[in-house]
Amino acid sequence: MSMDLSQPVISSGDNSTSAYDLERIRADFPILKQEVYGKPLVYLDNGASAQKPRQVIDAMSDVFENYYSNVHRGVHWTSQRSTEAFEAAREKVQVFINAASVNEVIFTRGATESINLVAATWGRKNLKAGDEVILSHMEHHSNIVPWQLLRDEIGIELKIAPIDKGGNFLLDAFEALLSDKTKLVAVTHVSNALGTVVPVADVIRLAHEKGALVLLDGCQAVPHAVVDVQALDVDFYVFSGHKLYGPTGIGVLWGREDLLNAMPPYQGGGDMISSVTFEKTTFMKTPHRFEAGTPAIAEAIGLGVAVDYVSGIGLENISAHEQGILQYATEKLSAIKGLTIIGTAKEKASIISFSVDGIHPHDIGTFVDRAGVAVRVGHHCAQPVMEFYGVAATARASFGLYNTRDEVDVLADALEQTKEFFA
Ligand code: ALA
Repeated sequence: MSMDLSQPVISSGDNSTSAYDLERIRADFPILKQEVYGKPLVYLDNGASAQKPRQVIDAMSDVFENYYSNVHRGVHWTSQRSTEAFEAAREKVQVFINAASVNEVIFTRGATESINLVAATWGRKNLKAGDEVILSHMEHHSNIVPWQLLRDEIGIELKIAPIDKGGNFLLDAFEALLSDKTKLVAVTHVSNALGTVVPVADVIRLAHEKGALVLLDGCQAVPHAVVDVQALDVDFYVFSGHKLYGPTGIGVLWGREDLLNAMPPYQGGGDMISSVTFEKTTFMKTPHRFEAGTPAIAEAIGLGVAVDYVSGIGLENISAHEQGILQYATEKLSAIKGLTIIGTAKEKASIISFSVDGIHPHDIGTFVDRAGVAVRVGHHCAQPVMEFYGVAATARASFGLYNTRDEVDVLADALEQTKEFFA
């Protein structure tokens, strides 16, 4: 079954994607042929950063080998060619998230910068002391700290939408937090620490009924399912390129064009101005207003190719494949005595956080690494949700479009061996 993140309810499906050519997909990722400690690499840390297909690697090499130059600044052939490819990447992102206009797609360094940009520009301009911003208990630090900085600067209030023990977002409790003072709801679409899919369609509807805007952190959503910003009727949407099989150093802030054009610039510098005198500067409209300085050119082009890559497979197919893996891995890991899955929400993306009785997550990570398995251990940049569960850290397996059931078996075996070793 596919996972449509524009819908509040996401089914955890089977693995009946006969057309999904896993072998061919895996062959696109050179790193998956790698051995570590003499064992095939089993890469289950896609939530932190996903691997790159040959298509992205080649496209970025092609930029540097054949036509690299600065963009928007040159009349010469290489600059024209780079500018065209850079702007074509923006159009690919527009189509990917179904933005109404290409002007709504701003390239940033990543989701973190995108959220900081909204806090520093929209937030400073539109919020005042006493106004409320609602976050959820599952937020990544990048969707907490920028709002705390703003709180400390101008005196806004932060309200935290609660979750239950399974990690489900509590819609009724969220609704009770909304008031006329709520100006923004900034929540994750999919929790990086728990895998929970937040019922964003309801969140957006309820927030809009109170006149509040909604920003969604889509980092862990866009690699896993179709995201349509118009169908969602959201106001701001952010994500990073490197979790979407693209390069690091590039991400996206999508916002409604009217909102963006009413926002002051973020950073000042080249390429974001209409004219400059020592007395006065006038600014470009979105997106260039928010892209001061030389951008990450090859990285943006690489992100465009990553978008082509996942779109070519089809997000519906990726979603169905990953939901099958999630279901299989959940069963397999649940069968390990002493292992507790942290985050058992009804709707999940392919992320499993867990602990094993008596073994520190860092020991788990180190031990399974020797079996070739890469998982993330730690607080996942989401300390408040770790605190909610009374743990300092978890181990986390996060599955991507190239992972297999065999790899889940390798993880499960490695965990059994870890238990034996520490027994
Ligand atoms: N936010 C990334 C993660 O979840 C780094 O691992």
